[in-house]
Amino acid sequence: MNVGFLGCGNIAQAMIVGLLDSGFKPASITVLTRNKKKKKFYKKNSIKRLDVSEANSAKFDFIFLCVKPADVKNAIQGSRIDWGNTTLVSVVAGISSQKLKILSNSEKIIRIMPTTSAEFGKSITAIFLADKQKKQTKKLIPLLNKMGSTIELSSENDLHEFTAVVGSGQAYIMEALKQYDEKLLKFSKNKNATSKNLAMFVSSIAQHIELNKGIEPSIKKIMSPKGTTYSGLKALKKNKISNVFKSAFKAAEKRSKEIQNEY
Ligand SMILES: NC(=O)c1ccc[n+]([C@@H]2O[C@H](COP(=O)([O-])OP(=O)(O)OC[C@H]3O[C@@H](n4cnc5c(N)ncnc54)[C@H](OP(=O)(O)O)[C@@H]3O)[C@@H](O)[C@H]2O)c1
Repeated sequence: MNVGFLGCGNIAQAMIVGLLDSGFKPASITVLTRNKKKKKFYKKNSIKRLDVSEANSAKFDFIFLCVKPADVKNAIQGSRIDWGNTTLVSVVAGISSQKLKILSNSEKIIRIMPTTSAEFGKSITAIFLADKQKKQTKKLIPLLNKMGSTIELSSENDLHEFTAVVGSGQAYIMEALKQYDEKLLKFSKNKNATSKNLAMFVSSIAQHIELNKGIEPSIKKIMSPKGTTYSGLKALKKNKISNVFKSAFKAAEKRSKEIQNEY
């Protein structure tokens, strides 16, 4: 299988490293770029690079479209890719498959929403299962699973909410974790030790959830009746922590819909 990446920024690089680390052959990956700015990256990873103006000289099963929404039109129409001969897999937030079909003049469009955790095999990637693309989609899923796990969505509209909750979600948790960072800095020796302790603290949460099969059983293990955890949780609930997150989800979903209308 040959895959191309149109654009070689944050998300493309994360996906490429994830694929390579899972054993995908470097010779099967090509970055399609309009300049050599990312030379260090493709040299280091021994992957090929083609200028967008020569992109029709190779054959690809999939080309991942990895540019910002504002650059989509230029990237699709400014490259010499024969879109009828490949499947365009867009990771771009907020640009509908209908719009992508018009721009590429092709029906072979799949939309996905990965995260940069693909770099270490932990992306929860959403894929919209369009009826016409079922065969190609089934071929793509094993590839996406090399970068983590895949969730199949039956409505394209759900991509807005998924992007808002999962795509952007780690950043919300990180924002909340700043409170812990501050406190751990007080208890740890220096900033380096703080980062290590914070990372251990966060990974212990993931392990609790995995081991105890969910959040509630994990909380039960930490909390004793009328203890400190009980009091802290009561204060969080009284201050409606759930609403804080719900408002972030809503704002991000609204923005995703706005982007769809802007471009
Ligand atoms: N970052 C994330 O966490 C994440 C997660 C999921 C989805 N996404 C989606 O991924 C897309 C890219 O995000 P990013 O964070 O990777 O952005 P980025 O780091 O800015 O990378 C975008 C890349 O697109 C290239 N590019 C722009 N116009 C081009 C053109 N006409 N032809 C070829 N390449 C072109 C740029 O290259 P030069 O300017 O150097 O030429 C740049 O390397 C966005 O649409 C976003 O919605 C991002």
